[in-house]
Amino acid sequence: VTDSDEGFRTLGDLEAAARRKLTDPLWDLVEGGAGEERTVEANRAAFRRYALRPRAFADVSSVDLAAPILGTSFDAPFFVAPTAYQGSIHPDGEVATARAAAAAHVLSVFSTVSTLPLERIAGDAPAFPRWFQLYLQPDFSATEELVRRAEAVGFTAIVLTTDVPVLGSRDRQYRSGLAIDRAVPFGNGSKVIIAARHPTAHGATYRLPPPADATWEIVDRVRALTRLPLLIKGVLTAADARQAIVHGAKGIVVSNHGGRQLDGARATLDALPEVVDAVGTHAEVYLDGGVRRGSDILIALALGARAVGIGRPILWALATGGEAGVARYFELLKMELAISMAIAGRRSIAEIDRTLVERVSAAPS
Ligand SMILES: Cc1cc2nc3c(=O)[nH]c(=O)nc-3n(C[C@H](O)[C@H](O)[C@H](O)COP(=O)(O)O)c2cc1C
Repeated sequence: VTDSDEGFRTLGDLEAAARRKLTDPLWDLVEGGAGEERTVEANRAAFRRYALRPRAFADVSSVDLAAPILGTSFDAPFFVAPTAYQGSIHPDGEVATARAAAAAHVLSVFSTVSTLPLERIAGDAPAFPRWFQLYLQPDFSATEELVRRAEAVGFTAIVLTTDVPVLGSRDRQYRSGLAIDRAVPFGNGSKVIIAARHPTAHGATYRLPPPADATWEIVDRVRALTRLPLLIKGVLTAADARQAIVHGAKGIVVSNHGGRQLDGARATLDALPEVVDAVGTHAEVYLDGGVRRGSDILIALALGARAVGIGRPILWALATGGEAGVARYFELLKMELAISMAIAGRRSIAEIDRTLVERVSAAPS
């Protein structure tokens, strides 16, 4: 790991370095959660309720981060979670992220509401596996068109996000007054929509437009559009994990949208064990929400996640220096994971098992 020009020397410096680069409204957009941000905090707090149980003298002369994700081997068990509007964070937008991820052999997932068209993301970065995150559109033909475009340019899986029938009450984002949905063009076309900001009231009844009327049947319809594997993002219960399997999902992302949707929703790490148990060998399970350090990755993997998604830190890294910032971030996070694995006595991702963690009632000192 070399010294950097990106304004952060350690993972712990990154957030402050990004804060210096972004305007107040953009900062609120990135950081903000729903309501009182209880779920944002819960995601982090959950990691503090687990402690690691390292093993000694395990010949850690070689530590291998190689991680199989849906049949492809990546160089780390973490991936870029889909985040909207990366072009508002850095002019190179999603292409910077895609290039850094490809160079680092890290999986990346790109949002329906990217700033650049998905064809540009695929075309301006080296060929490398990456996934497309799908938001259902009001009109199924528009959903179909997005899936076909992603498949045509080589995206290797579709990740259907379930937890946005309506935008959460994003107090911090709305207070700052950034009309991001008007300020930033949608790269995938002016027809693409993101969920309604709020329902319309009719007496005691609050109505939401399509696609808020979607039921699990929509998963079958989306799956029928493509030969690509379909994953479901936004699962927090065993019951929904079972539904995802019944409807043919190959992967499940345990996620609460980084605390941006339902304030008070459980921490993802607390939801992980029951989802892993419910899914068994029927699909792969991933987690996102509050993953910040090498130790967090060890804990999530020990509890059964195949890999973890990283949301805000990628945007922080993008803000500090575009592609170089994200590249630097991957370098630091991989290094910290390798260090943590060595000291924990784990030489490979496969050796990170349930015996590595214990639940503790309070934060370890
Ligand atoms: C600014 C921002 C935009 C996001 N946009 C999307 C999106 O377009 N689609 C989606 O499925 N998730 C979106 N997410 C949620 C992330 O994919 C992920 O679930 C979350 O950020 C993980 O938590 P973390 O930020 O604590 O790592 C967004 C998150 C942030 C912070």
